[in-house]
Amino acid sequence: MTRALVVYESVFGDARVIAYAIADGLSPVLAAEVLAAGEAPAEIGPDVELLVVGGPNHAFGMPRPSTRESAVTQHGATIADTTTGLHEWLQAVRVPRTGLAAAAFDTRGSGHRILTKMDHAARTEEKLLSKLGATIIAPAEHFFVADTRGPLADGEEDRARSWGRSLGGLADSRASAGEFGS
Ligand SMILES: Cc1cc2nc3c(=O)[nH]c(=O)nc-3n(C[C@H](O)[C@H](O)[C@H](O)COP(=O)(O)O)c2cc1C
Repeated sequence: MTRALVVYESVFGDARVIAYAIADGLSPVLAAEVLAAGEAPAEIGPDVELLVVGGPNHAFGMPRPSTRESAVTQHGATIADTTTGLHEWLQAVRVPRTGLAAAAFDTRGSGHRILTKMDHAARTEEKLLSKLGATIIAPAEHFFVADTRGPLADGEEDRARSWGRSLGGLADSRASAGEFGS
């Protein structure tokens, strides 16, 4: 049986909640496993049909060691290892085939709409997925938090569940058309 893998990085728990809601939305079509980047495998199994990745925007991009350290020193976060996360996992992971279906999401502050337009975490995730040879099957989705430490803005968890449902539909039609990649 094929399955989906949802890999996330989350400092305050919001991207984690989104990752589980996406998996829930996917579940009628694809059994989805949710893993933090730190626990995700170095090699994705051949039974994975869809890879979804996401995490927060930090300083307009994906978290990196310096921004994780700022999260600890300036925002009171607890991070076991600030040297590694989703970016580092995506740079090193091995995928089972070219054309693996994939999609990216990020979380971002809802306060400053103009500033948040500059946020590009999900765009970088998509670039890293493309570098792996994955095929992006849907535009990236962005989920808003009320403040740096969360919580998610109203309705975002439901929106993530709906997005998961639509990703499941897309992956399913791709599989019906025989587009698994090679
Ligand atoms: C060091 C740091 C930098 C941040 N920079 C941005 C930013 O550039 N744009 C933005 O919208 N949110 C920014 N935020 C807010 C995060 O996006 C927010 O904390 C995150 O989406 C919450 O997700 P999480 O609970 O999964 O960590 C920043 C947060 C931290 C800790």
